[in-house]
Amino acid sequence: MSEAREQWGSTAGFLMAAIGSAVGLGNIWRFSYVTYENGGGAFLVPYLLALFIVGIPLLLLEFGLGHYMKASAPLSMFRIDRRFQWVGWWAVVFTMFGILTYYCVVIAWCLNYILFSLYQPWVGAEGGADGFFFAEFLGAKPSPGEPLRGPAELTAPRASVVVTLALVWAINGVIIGRGLRRGLEPVIRVFIPLLFVLMILLVVWSLFLPGSGRGLAWYLQPDWSQLGNWRVWVAAISQIFFTLSLGFGIMIAYASYLPERSDITRNALLTAFADSGFAVFAGVAVFATLGFMAQVQGQEVGEVVTSGIGLAFVAYPKVISELPFLPVVFGVLFFTALAIAGLSSSLSLIQAFVSALGDKYEIDRPRMVGTVCTVGFVLGLVFTTGAGISWLDIVDHFMTSYGLVLVGLLEALIVGWVFGGERLGAHIEEAGDFRLNAHYGTFMRLIMTAALALTWFGLHQAEGGLGPFLARLFVLLSIAGVWLKRSWLDYSLKVIIPVVLLALIDRSLAEELTAPYGGYPTEALAGVGLGWLVATLVVAVAIDRHSWRESQRRPGS
Ligand code: PHE
Repeated sequence: MSEAREQWGSTAGFLMAAIGSAVGLGNIWRFSYVTYENGGGAFLVPYLLALFIVGIPLLLLEFGLGHYMKASAPLSMFRIDRRFQWVGWWAVVFTMFGILTYYCVVIAWCLNYILFSLYQPWVGAEGGADGFFFAEFLGAKPSPGEPLRGPAELTAPRASVVVTLALVWAINGVIIGRGLRRGLEPVIRVFIPLLFVLMILLVVWSLFLPGSGRGLAWYLQPDWSQLGNWRVWVAAISQIFFTLSLGFGIMIAYASYLPERSDITRNALLTAFADSGFAVFAGVAVFATLGFMAQVQGQEVGEVVTSGIGLAFVAYPKVISELPFLPVVFGVLFFTALAIAGLSSSLSLIQAFVSALGDKYEIDRPRMVGTVCTVGFVLGLVFTTGAGISWLDIVDHFMTSYGLVLVGLLEALIVGWVFGGERLGAHIEEAGDFRLNAHYGTFMRLIMTAALALTWFGLHQAEGGLGPFLARLFVLLSIAGVWLKRSWLDYSLKVIIPVVLLALIDRSLAEELTAPYGGYPTEALAGVGLGWLVATLVVAVAIDRHSWRESQRRPGS
């Protein structure tokens, strides 16, 4: 940009925006169904360990890099080495035209549910809240008793969802079109506090439902033996990427709008804790409700919902209708809050994408935003058909388990080895008052050690064999490295994260070949999931081929 780079109005504005990006449907909708599908308490432990071992170091990386380069993801990568530009493009392209296309559909469901809250059509519907959501609302099942439609059974788009989807993209477009200071920042400053207040009310209420204790026990009781289960680890680490908005290029772009002196360590820790804290807390409402449903229906907690993806849209309506006072007001407020959580995330991604394009091309902002939102809307239509849920499940699986994780791996390797992990650490030190090594060093090393030691004990439970043995050996080496190396962050980026993520990708691929994801036909997985990922890679490489504007080649411009 020829004019000075935009800046946040205040650090609090940045922090709220970063938390707003992190806290989203991922914390409420995705977190609850992934936790549900992975056995509740069995999932929570690896999720929290992944937060410390992978999440926080990568968040420091993205904040630190964006702040150092004062550039979007692709330009930041370009400035490390021109050959890496495509990594940044791929991150913003597949998230913008992959993840965001279905994400906005889920926000659209929230808008529909705001209306539904007025008359609560799920009360007394065939199959209850579950039947209403899957069969009546989405048309994803011909009738409540039947299984979900497969990916090949595309029906016409559901008109009610198409309308709200268009609205979602329009809202996004208008806010981003107004720019950081006049659009995004003031909106976020209202959204986020509202969201927290509503969630507290809902959680408190859910605890009074009969049977809630059963649900909570299922949710909160750790199952250490699951630490030996690769599937659960894959789900946990992918969820950490998703929920902290890592690998999207978002946090890089957001940090690029920070002033010269900024406390990156403190901001990263606050963002990470607010985000995971919110997810675990919001989970209480979901699982307390599932305990209630299990009690009423005489089933196990693990059996009450037919497809995980709809979980939040089954559980929350249920609590809302049970409220003794003002269920309508509450329902409207709750789904508004959910939509707001989603919007503050979708806005962050569009901002990151537009900022990347703006760094490279001289296009006028309104036109750019308009085109991007229109394309996003059109691509999202497929998720509004009767096969939408299966498509969503497949695309999400590939984008999150492979897309985000691969970008994270490349970022760690490139920044760790090429840019220099120590150099990044030194920059973070200089920019703020809270020192990454001096003040936080011992603290972070202790946290890392605790997380790694728990992982070690957990892996002890795994079935014998070479894999778990090597994994335990690596964990011990990692603990030594964290203490012996001068910079724990450098060691994390250079060694721990790459090894963990490579092992994960290896396991996921092996898994993919033996048991196709979700039991879907292989052609559907290859065509829809892999196809979508590869198509975005092709687009990213094509953009990479265009050269940068001359003014953008030097850092610090
Ligand atoms: N962290 C976001 C969430 O948990 C993920 C996200 C960001 C999704 C931006 C879409 C766009 O919801």
